[in-house]
Amino acid sequence: MKISVIGCGYLGAVHAASMAELGHDVVGIDVDRAKVELLSQARAPFYEPGFEELLARSLASGRLRFSADMADAAGAVVHFVCVGTPQKRSEYAADLRYVEAAAESLLAVLRPGDLVAGKSTVPVGTAARLAELVDGKVPGAMLAWNPEFLREGFAVQDTLHPDRLVYGLAPGAEGEVARALLDEVYATIVAAGTPQVVTDYATAEMVKTAANSFLATKISFINAMAELCEATGADVKQLADAIGHDDRIGRKFLNAGLGFGGGCLPKDIRAFMARAGELGADQALTFLREVDNINMRRRIRMVELAREVCDGSLLGKRVAVLGAAFKPDSDDIRDSPALNVAAQLQLQGAVVRVTDPAAVENCRRLWPQLDYADTAEEAAERADAVLVLTEWKQYKELDPVAFGLIVKQKRVLDGRNALDRDSWTAAGWSYRALGRRAG
Ligand code: UGA
Repeated sequence: MKISVIGCGYLGAVHAASMAELGHDVVGIDVDRAKVELLSQARAPFYEPGFEELLARSLASGRLRFSADMADAAGAVVHFVCVGTPQKRSEYAADLRYVEAAAESLLAVLRPGDLVAGKSTVPVGTAARLAELVDGKVPGAMLAWNPEFLREGFAVQDTLHPDRLVYGLAPGAEGEVARALLDEVYATIVAAGTPQVVTDYATAEMVKTAANSFLATKISFINAMAELCEATGADVKQLADAIGHDDRIGRKFLNAGLGFGGGCLPKDIRAFMARAGELGADQALTFLREVDNINMRRRIRMVELAREVCDGSLLGKRVAVLGAAFKPDSDDIRDSPALNVAAQLQLQGAVVRVTDPAAVENCRRLWPQLDYADTAEEAAERADAVLVLTEWKQYKELDPVAFGLIVKQKRVLDGRNALDRDSWTAAGWSYRALGRRAG
């Protein structure tokens, strides 16, 4: 099948390469020529395990190419819209300018019978509006909403083996035709027995924001418990293990620590609140404000804890920050809790050295005022405190005995509850973590 993918960021680039892997003839379109150039050379513009291999395979098969010219999308039957929907500056709402620009420029290449399939995360109501635009300008062209649930770090796996397919369709015969086209695109995935939810536009759009809101709420719930654990001397990790055994609750996404960041969860819950307000249903989502507040408080608490362990003052203290990406196996620093804490520590007078296995290059570009090191050992040299803020495997596997020889003071703050407390304390470190007793 001939497919175009508009927008080759995280979502689009992985989607384009994955669709070619499934046997389709795919063109990825992006306005950023540098990105198109990189992708065409089988080089990933971001860190994602397994993606470069997939990209190389798909390019070599001759079924995948990239272009900066929308005219190259002509001839495709299904056009996936995968552009970003960031938070607007100084507002909670999502910025839809890229979605609108993509739709507008697609109109020039659309033919009757073509399907525009939106994958971007959009405020509910967007698909209906775009459907009118498409149908008004190119009668017979169709629109569907087909949200994506991939996680960074597992993007390839999540795209090729999703846990569900959601189709938001127009009512009646048009919807049936669109459904058949999507089933053809995802034939391999459908044949594997992947659950399908076939629904209307609004529900499909809401599935995505509701899912991310639920995940954010789960994380903030356990972080609220961590605050209480700190007040009572209880242990949030054991608490999470214990409640997680109840499979109605489940242990996943109950890892207390610095909280959520990245390009999705924070902006999605805010855009959802903004949209609820526009719809006159803001009360339904006021709890998400609290979810956001709990999340942001964790960062402040981490800075306070660092000050506490540095004998009450950060001025002139050497602090090593291990981890800058918003989560491991990613070089994404958008709304990264780790980087946010590092910047705060520096603002408050600490001498901060940040390291990360993948994100340092991005950090240098965005936060040139911070000092960076290539390795954990280099960052920790003569440090008064070591903060582990992203739970990379490399940091979980550090040898506390050898690492203790590098620092000035053996004080470790485990911002992700990821270290083995016993082995660190046995090696003479003072251990502090969010929601757990000092060790
Ligand atoms: C998230 C969703 O998990 C995906 O399903 C969704 O498709 C994607 O957003 C999106 O909207 O595109 P992602 O942003 O890659 O995926 O990251 P997550 O794995 O959800 O982690 C988000 C943040 O929560 C990270 O900062 C992570 O460290 C934090 N987190 C996660 C916790 O603090 N505790 C946990 O138990 C789990």
